[in-house]
Amino acid sequence: MGLLDGKVAIVTGSGGGIGREHALALAAEGASVLVNDLGGARDGTGEGTAMADQVVEEIRAAGGEAAPSYDNVATVEGGEAILKGALDAFGKVDVLVNNAGILRDKTLAKMDEGLWDAVIAVHLKGTYCCTRPVFNHMKERGEGGSIINTSSTSGLEGNFGQSNYGAAKAGIAGFTRCVALEGQKAGIRCNAIAPVAFTRMTEDLMGAPTMKETMDPKLIAPLIVFLASDLSKDVTQTTFFVGGGKISEMRMVRTEGVTKSDEGGLWTPEEIAARLPEILA
Ligand code: NAI
Repeated sequence: MGLLDGKVAIVTGSGGGIGREHALALAAEGASVLVNDLGGARDGTGEGTAMADQVVEEIRAAGGEAAPSYDNVATVEGGEAILKGALDAFGKVDVLVNNAGILRDKTLAKMDEGLWDAVIAVHLKGTYCCTRPVFNHMKERGEGGSIINTSSTSGLEGNFGQSNYGAAKAGIAGFTRCVALEGQKAGIRCNAIAPVAFTRMTEDLMGAPTMKETMDPKLIAPLIVFLASDLSKDVTQTTFFVGGGKISEMRMVRTEGVTKSDEGGLWTPEEIAARLPEILA
C-alpha cells in the first residue's frame, strides 16, 4: 500500500532536478504521474522531449505509472494542455506540483525587459496558467485536491542579482496564500515550498561542491509526498523551507506595532522616526 495509491499527480518541470525527484517519489507511493517538461536549457531556451521521456521511463521501469507532457507552462494554452494530458492519460487530477523554472540572473541595472519578462512568464504566470484549469477541474470533481507551488528564499528573503526571479517567487507565495483561501470550501489545499538543492540551476553558485554532497534534490521529495497525501489533510496556506535535511516554516510576520490614539490616528513623520524601534519591535 502506498500513501498515494489511486491518486493522479502532475509535476511541471519534472524532466530533471528537483521535479524529477518529486515525480519519482510520488510514483513510488502509488500515484500516476504526468511528467511535464519543456526540455530546454537552464535559461529557458530550446525545447525537446527527451527529458520528460527519460523520467517516464524511469518510473515505468520501477513499476510505476507515468505519462509525458512537453507543454510550456508559461502560456494559458500550455496549462490547459497539461491538464488535458493528465485527463487523457489518467482521467482526473488530485495533485498539482508547480515546479518548472528558469534563471536569467542580472543586477537590476542590467535587467532588461526580456530578462524580466521571461522569468516572470515561466515562474509566476506559469503557476497561474497551470493552476487555474486544475483548480477548476478539482472544484468540478468535488473531491478536493492538493496544489503545491515552488517559491524560493530568493524572493522571501532576497538575493543579490535576482530581482526578476525574486519578484516571481515572492509572487508565487502570495498567489499560494490567496488560492488556499479560495480553495478551502472545496477541500482544495494550496501550499508552497522554498527548496534548496544542488541542481543545474544552482551548480555554479558559491560553495556548490559542498552543496552537491549535502543538498541532494532527493531530500526535498518527502515533503512533496506528505503535502500530496492525506497525512497533510489539515495543512494549507503554508510555506515550507526545505533543503539539506532541514524543514521549517517561512512566515510573513506583522509586528505588534504602535497605534496612535490622538489626532485621529494621524502620525507626523517625526513621530514615526521617534517611535520606529517600537514599530519594528
Ligand atoms: P532545473 O533547471 O533542474 O529544473 C527546472 C525544470 O523546469 C527543467 O527540467 C526545465 O526543463 C523545466 N522547465 C523550464 N521552463 C519550463 C516551461 N516553460 N515549461 C515546462 N517546463 C519547463 O532546476 P531545479 O533546481 O530543479 O528547480 C526546480 C524548481 O525549484 C524551480 O522552480 C526553481 O526555481 C526552484 N528552486 C530551486 C532551488 C535550488 O536550490 N535548486 C532554490 C529555490 C527554488
